[in-house]
Amino acid sequence: MMRMDRMIMPGRHEQKDDWGDLAGWWFAEADDPAYREEVVPLFLEVFRPRRGQVMLDLGCGDGRIGGRLAARGVRVIGVDVNLELARLASGRHPVFLRRLPDLACVRDAAVDGAYAVLALEHFEDAGCFFAETARVTRAGGSLAIVLNHPVYTAPRSGPVIDPTDGELFWRFGDYLSRGRTREPARDRSVEFIHRPVGALLTEAATAGWSLEKVLEQGVGTRAAARDPILAQHRDIPHLMAIRWRRR
Ligand SMILES: C[S@@+](CC[C@H](N)C(=O)[O-])C[C@H]1O[C@@H](n2cnc3c(N)ncnc32)[C@H](O)[C@@H]1O
Repeated sequence: MMRMDRMIMPGRHEQKDDWGDLAGWWFAEADDPAYREEVVPLFLEVFRPRRGQVMLDLGCGDGRIGGRLAARGVRVIGVDVNLELARLASGRHPVFLRRLPDLACVRDAAVDGAYAVLALEHFEDAGCFFAETARVTRAGGSLAIVLNHPVYTAPRSGPVIDPTDGELFWRFGDYLSRGRTREPARDRSVEFIHRPVGALLTEAATAGWSLEKVLEQGVGTRAAARDPILAQHRDIPHLMAIRWRRR
């Protein structure tokens, strides 16, 4: 088992931090009411760890989700590659400074479960993510993710307008293949890795995760209020939350 004191523990290998310039952007994103009103409730609907359980928060950012769970008595341990965010999170719960999906710092079957909120889209190898989380989780433990819905973020997906009558449609783009997109993040950009839902579910099942719950959420009122095109696409899947049980 790992130590539970509040400290940042660097991984054994030097950590390349391409999120280094993005901490400021993420503060603004996470302070957006849409995060509080849409992402957090979706996460809590899919995943309610119990007091005393040991949970890994993978890509924990500044620890705002882990801090909520820790306040309810969950023993949260964060993992994040970004030093600035990990430092902030370490004020809320212990944190490993590490590049995921590598979890070599955690022993086999050491934790009751793990979760990743808006983070799996940034990890290179989803197969390794599911295998590593399965390795470190005890039998009967759980895993949950919240992610930008792959239908929404697929490369070249987006709204198109029929010029003849102004009707709006959604273009699926390259949904069925794996791919990458870059989204603006202030004066920089952030990379999202696209995987079709079928690929994600198959990789999780292969690693030993049994599917328990899937929630899909359309464009919320906050996002729609900011963007007239999104306002007409409230049924487009926007967020997705999935929970599994370790076989
Ligand atoms: C969009 S933020 C979400 C943060 C947090 N889960 C939340 O909901 O507030 C994505 C987080 O994943 C972290 N991250 C991205 N790629 C990573 C990687 N390969 N290993 C570890 N952390 C990573 C970033 O540093 C960032 O904190």
